Amino acid sequence: MTLTIHQVGPCFAGEVDGIDLTSPLSSEDAAAVHAGMDEYAVLVFRGQNLNDDQQMSLTLALGAIEQSTNNSLRAKSDIRLPETFADVSNLDKNQHPFARDDRRRLFAIGNRLWHSDSSFKPTPAKYSILNARSTPSKGGNTEFADMRAAYDALDNEMKAEVADLICEHSQVFSRQQLGFTDFTDEERERFAPVRQTLVRVHPTTGRVSLYLASHAGAIVGWPMPEARSFLRDLVEHATQREFVHKHEWRVGDLVIWDNRQTMHRARPFPAEEARDMRRTTLVGDGPTTAQAAA
Ligand code: OGA
Ligand code: MN
Repeated sequence: MTLTIHQVGPCFAGEVDGIDLTSPLSSEDAAAVHAGMDEYAVLVFRGQNLNDDQQMSLTLALGAIEQSTNNSLRAKSDIRLPETFADVSNLDKNQHPFARDDRRRLFAIGNRLWHSDSSFKPTPAKYSILNARSTPSKGGNTEFADMRAAYDALDNEMKAEVADLICEHSQVFSRQQLGFTDFTDEERERFAPVRQTLVRVHPTTGRVSLYLASHAGAIVGWPMPEARSFLRDLVEHATQREFVHKHEWRVGDLVIWDNRQTMHRARPFPAEEARDMRRTTLVGDGPTTAQAAA
């Protein structure tokens, strides 16, 4: 059976039917998923209930995995999932929710700001693949914003202004916005800023996107307050309701998004409840600045 996709968001985001992701992905289905991603930028697969091995097989069938390089504040001794997973849950390795003031929880609250995954790495992420293993009784939705539609809606003067800008991205910048500043020297070094273009062109479709994230905290050559207020205005523009789709999770849902064309954010939920979300990530083609120069 061939898969079908129907749009669920305002200008993007599709829900996929007619595919069972627990079985190995045929090359035909993989091509259909990529084509769907190019068009919709976010694909929702309801009721898939993948285990870790199945999620990893699906991920590898779609591309090259991003090596998990210690992006969180979890110590090696409290790793809960295989190393190739990003643990987006609020759980310690004994499956207990973090205490409300746990540093690992407070750092992870950074996911509630609009962002694009791994924009703080020299080669940022392509797709993120997020699997809901348990969900809270309320809240905990994920929202997505279409950065192609956001770019298209800029006037010509603004398109010209953003065309060649380079930003610096760091997890320190995003956490600063939340008043989380108690990084160790080792963490500051690990989270040193990297450069990204503010505009990206999709390699297959040629569509242009704004490339924004709460991790973007500076524009090369600009005074800091001017850069920050400019970026804040752009994020505000890009996340207007007409560009946003909200996903309400059910256990077993799997959502794939293209970080090159979208931003996303997690929404709050009761701190004492478990929310077990497991992410695998495909690596991008290379640094965005090299792609812009090419
Ligand atoms: C992520 C992420 C949002 C959420 O997995 O990268 O930001 O709702 N998740 O958990
Ligand atoms: Mn994320």
